[in-house]
Amino acid sequence: AALAQTTSSLIGFKPVPVSFDDTVVVPEGYSFQILGGTGEPISGDMPAYRPGANTGAEQEHQIGQCHDGIHFFPIEGSSEDGLLVENHEYIEPRFLHAEKEGYKGAAFDKRSVLYDADGMRDDDEVRMEIAAHGISIFRTTKQADGSWAIVADPHNRRITANTPMEIAGPVRGSAHVRTKYSPDGTMTRGTVNNCAHGVTPWNTYLAAEENWAGYFANTTEIDQKPDLPREHARYGVSTNPQGGRYGWHLAKSGADEFVRWDATAKGASATDDYRNEPNTYGWMVEVDPFDPESTPVKRTHLGRFAHEGVVFAPVVEGAPVVCYSGDDARFEYIYKFVSDDVFVPGETDGSILDRGTLYVARFNDDGSGEWLALAPGRNGLTPANGFADLADILVNTRLAADTAGATKMDRPEWGTIDPNTGEVYFALTNNSRRTQAQVDAVNPRAENNFGQIVRWNYDNGDHTKASFDWDLFVIAGNARNSALATGGSLGDDNTFACPDGLWCDDSSRLWIQTDMGDIGPDYEGPLKEFGMNMLLAADPATGEIKRFMTGPWGQECTGVVTTPDGKTMFVNFQHPGAHGSADDFAAGKYGSSFPDYNGTVPRSATVVITKDDGGVIGA
Ligand code: FEO
Ligand code: CA
Ligand code: CA
Ligand code: CA
Repeated sequence: AALAQTTSSLIGFKPVPVSFDDTVVVPEGYSFQILGGTGEPISGDMPAYRPGANTGAEQEHQIGQCHDGIHFFPIEGSSEDGLLVENHEYIEPRFLHAEKEGYKGAAFDKRSVLYDADGMRDDDEVRMEIAAHGISIFRTTKQADGSWAIVADPHNRRITANTPMEIAGPVRGSAHVRTKYSPDGTMTRGTVNNCAHGVTPWNTYLAAEENWAGYFANTTEIDQKPDLPREHARYGVSTNPQGGRYGWHLAKSGADEFVRWDATAKGASATDDYRNEPNTYGWMVEVDPFDPESTPVKRTHLGRFAHEGVVFAPVVEGAPVVCYSGDDARFEYIYKFVSDDVFVPGETDGSILDRGTLYVARFNDDGSGEWLALAPGRNGLTPANGFADLADILVNTRLAADTAGATKMDRPEWGTIDPNTGEVYFALTNNSRRTQAQVDAVNPRAENNFGQIVRWNYDNGDHTKASFDWDLFVIAGNARNSALATGGSLGDDNTFACPDGLWCDDSSRLWIQTDMGDIGPDYEGPLKEFGMNMLLAADPATGEIKRFMTGPWGQECTGVVTTPDGKTMFVNFQHPGAHGSADDFAAGKYGSSFPDYNGTVPRSATVVITKDDGGVIGA
């Protein structure tokens, strides 16, 4: 298969081959260092990282686990001094607790945790797991020797699955979010499963709540309430008594902050119990990294689903703010929000996201598309069809999108927007369950193991328009089954599968990160030929794609960003060693040695990449 013939001026590096090694590979002429691994202290009295042995109280001042979306907020425009803000998607409990009694030497699978003889969990372990979730904010500066270091700073902060948060937008105060914790429905606690992120035009950070449903159980007795409310059922809250990914509701003390993870209707009303706690999850969470005292805000008008992230269209003074967000589950949707108010530089803040219209995408087979409004009275969203008002529509966003007749996609992951053309790109990572009968033009493969990237634009670049034109930028895969919009297919320099993270830099270089799952050296399956998860760079104009970097065993390649000058890149590797078996864990073999390579537990970390000649990354 031939590569696209055109040569890009954006992409100047020599591509790296696929890798099967437990290592990081960058192109010739590039170097890297490790920064900000799980457990590195950033705040408080800076408790030292003790692999597999830290306490919950220590973890509350340390970088969390399973790094995902990341952004560099420059301090006074600097490319050598800024705040790194990143999400922690989930946890690998066996690595967090590796040296603790009950874990060391015992067989633990990915995600399994220790229960006592009564089926209860140790409070401090749960406290630590809650603290290893959420968001880390820390200052980092370039040192005299060219390396980057974490710096103690008043901005440094951990936001966890227990941090108080405000609920804003149309759902604030509605009956859906009134809880024992917040009887007036204006507050909640915590954020979990923060996957990708967004950066607002007013320089704040948005963390996405993706697979939050898995953290809750709803153990309500059948005779009390035979069916789960649709606000739980459509999103997959578990009915298993031990449900909840890590059984946080089973912490031994029975403290309120733990028990609330069981969304059971026990009391006479919602303000007596925890039944509405899950309704306070599934949102985008806004954080101002420059105000360490600020309360994070859940922006409910951006919809409730498995948010992967959010991406903002370039702002125009005097025009509405527009952003896009994908719902990463099989056959779910892509959404757009258009504000009622217009952007005013220096004045606009996050409250502009509280008034507007949420839309969901329909992709027609002829390359056109349209945005369907999810608002009272529109597209079938009436009380007669079960949607009482705007808050009801937003809490039940997925059901509203079903009713409106949106296009069911192959797991929408990150989006990004080319800042120079305004074209929007979204990764559709894979969908093994799509049947031949369900194939359409934008999701063109049955049993889609490899994924594709869709792209759209508007007449006159106006993101507020209801109709758009789309094409597939690349259908990912190997030389035999891939296709580029510019013609030809992928080859040795760029085969990849399962696009997940996307980020277009200021020069329009499109960075593509892969998540083929927990791929290790012993993996056997349809993705084997692609090796370990990787980062590639594409030129949207020429269609050229080259493999830039490959990562260690077990990880996926998550966040990516550069400093404003483009000369330092930060890349997150999440869950190294995750593929390792329970028996190997019991034998003290952890699946990967990244990033410490001394036989201790693997941990997620940020890889800082520079070019040896000091140039722009990728050029
Ligand atoms: Fe957390 Fe959809 O990746
Ligand atoms: Ca992802
Ligand atoms: Ca993924
Ligand atoms: Ca993942």
